[in-house]
Amino acid sequence: MKVGVLTGGGDRPGLNAVIRAVVRAVHNANGTTIGLLEGWRGAIEGNYIDLSPENTDGIVDRGGTILGSSRTNPYKNSKDVDTLVDTFHRLGLNALIAIGGDDTLVVGSRLFAERTISTIGCPKTIDNDLSSTDQTFGFDTSINIVMEAVDRLRTTAESHRRIVVVETMGRHAGWIACYSGVATAADYILVPEIDVDLDRMCDVLKKRREAGKLYGIVVVSEGAKLSKDEGFVTQDAEVDDFGHVKLGGIGELVARVIEKRTGFETRCVTLGHLQRGGPPSAYDRVLGTRLGIHAARLAIHKDFGKMVALRGTNIVAVPLADAVGTMRKLDMGVLREAEEFFT
Ligand code: F6P
Repeated sequence: MKVGVLTGGGDRPGLNAVIRAVVRAVHNANGTTIGLLEGWRGAIEGNYIDLSPENTDGIVDRGGTILGSSRTNPYKNSKDVDTLVDTFHRLGLNALIAIGGDDTLVVGSRLFAERTISTIGCPKTIDNDLSSTDQTFGFDTSINIVMEAVDRLRTTAESHRRIVVVETMGRHAGWIACYSGVATAADYILVPEIDVDLDRMCDVLKKRREAGKLYGIVVVSEGAKLSKDEGFVTQDAEVDDFGHVKLGGIGELVARVIEKRTGFETRCVTLGHLQRGGPPSAYDRVLGTRLGIHAARLAIHKDFGKMVALRGTNIVAVPLADAVGTMRKLDMGVLREAEEFFT
C-alpha cells in the first residue's frame, strides 16, 4: 500500500506528530508513505518527498509542518482537479490522508464523492471550530502561548496602570479568546459569537478601577463583531482561494474606544501568528499521534471517505461528508462561566 499525506491551510503545532504517526503505522503494515508538499498544490503538481520512520522519528517536537502548507483550492479551477486525479494515479497512490481544516476537508470530501479518490481526513484548525471533533490539536498549544504572553503583559500593565487589549486568533469562533481569557483572569473577553457590548466592557473596567485594581486585561478574538456604528474591523479587500478575508485590527479599535470612554491609558498587542508557532504541548503531541495512527488504520483497512475525530477520550471515524461544512461555535456555557468575573 502506498499512502500520500498532505497538510493544507494554516499551520499549527502538532502537524508533525500526525505525519510521524501516519508514517509509522503505515510502515508497520508493510506500506510506504510519501509526503505531498504544500497542501493540495503538491497533490496537483506531484511534488513530494519520501517519508520513512527514520526521517520522521525526530519531528514530534517540531512546530509547523515538514511538508509545507498552502491554501490552494483545486476546485477553483476544474483543470486542477483533473490534474490532481491524474497525479494521484501516476504516483501509484492507494490512499490520500488530508490533514486540514474545513476548507481542506471539503476538497477531500468532494474528491472522494465525485472522483472516487480514496481520501481520509484528519481535522486541524487552531480555531478549534470543527463540528465533528471535540477538540483539534494545536488549540492547547495556542492557548498556552496566549497565556504566557498575557502573564508577561500583566506585569507591565500593572506597572503603568494601563489597560492592555490582547487580540487573539479566532476567525469565526471564540475558543482561543475565551479559554485564554479565563486562564489569565482577563477582565473582559470579546468573541465572534456575540455582538460586542463596548458600554458594558467600559463599565466593567471602570468598576474594577474604582475597586482598586489599577490595570486591566481585555482579550478580543480577531473575528469579534462590532455593530456597524462602532466602526469596522480591519480586513483586507483581497480574499484567499477559499474566499476568506484577512482579519486583524479589532484590538486597536477596542483599545482606542477604551481610552476615549474611560480615560485609562490603553495599549493593544496583536499576537497573530505567534499563536501558531513553536513546539506543540504534550497534549497536542499525543492527540496528533493518536489521530495519525487512526487515519493510517483507516487507509490500511481501505475505509475511505472518513475523517478521524476525538469524541470524549476516544478516536472515532466519521463520514467525511458529514464532518465538513458546519462550524463548532464557542460553547456559550463556558462564556457564561467567564462572565461571572465581568462585574
Ligand atoms: O487557520 C485559522 C487561522 O489561524 C485564523 O485564526 C486566522 O484568521 C487565519 O488562519 C490566518 O491565516 P493566514 O495564516 O493565512 O494569515
